[in-house]
Amino acid sequence: MTERRGLFLNFEGMDGCGKTTQARMAAERLRKEGYEVLESVEPGGTPIGQQVRRILLDPANEELAPRAELLLYFACRAQNVEQWVKPALDRGAVVVTDRFTDSTMAYQGYGRGLGREIVITLDRIACQGVAPDLTIIVDIDLETSLARARARNRTVADNHETRMDEQAAEFYRRVRAGYQEMVQLEPHRFAVVDGRGDIDTVARGVWQAIQGKLPRHD
Ligand code: TMP
Repeated sequence: MTERRGLFLNFEGMDGCGKTTQARMAAERLRKEGYEVLESVEPGGTPIGQQVRRILLDPANEELAPRAELLLYFACRAQNVEQWVKPALDRGAVVVTDRFTDSTMAYQGYGRGLGREIVITLDRIACQGVAPDLTIIVDIDLETSLARARARNRTVADNHETRMDEQAAEFYRRVRAGYQEMVQLEPHRFAVVDGRGDIDTVARGVWQAIQGKLPRHD
């Protein structure tokens, strides 16, 4: 990773926390400040990743085994790193992603109970050392997350992406506790922003977290 000059920002949090809106707003602001920005999302991102996303989130795939699920998330990511993220960082761009390996740690490592080691090992293989410089967690409590995710599923007609949202509340309790432990273990890598305020207040908190990390640009 000798070439790398850009900045890699990852937005994380529980379902319904508002991170997608915040990632978009941050990308917009960075562009206004003159940075080249690559926006990405996981699962998905690349065209191949979007095909894998359909398998991962299709509620018909109830029998998807936890280890198969884990590998599919990493398959998406390996493609994303190779095709989009690494080239963008190498040419000095800011990459803004809506979820990355921190999601896999929280949802599969902690939520599914697969553990930290397997996630760390697969990250090494799939990402080849490409890792966020900063992960912003938009933090909301469990009850708000479950309520927002369910409301979203009701309002989006024909929603084919509900498989993860249909997990039990206990699963989401482990995911949230996972995020909290991850921050405790590596506090320097994370900024936790309170996601309960209005969109602009949250955006101000996000921008404060990002500012100190920005590379100089001419
Ligand atoms: P989204 O709601 O942010 O589009 O994410 C889709 C779902 O996929 C969400 O419930 C979180 C889940 N997910 C994982 O379980 N592991 C992962 O590695 C990623 C990227 C997402």
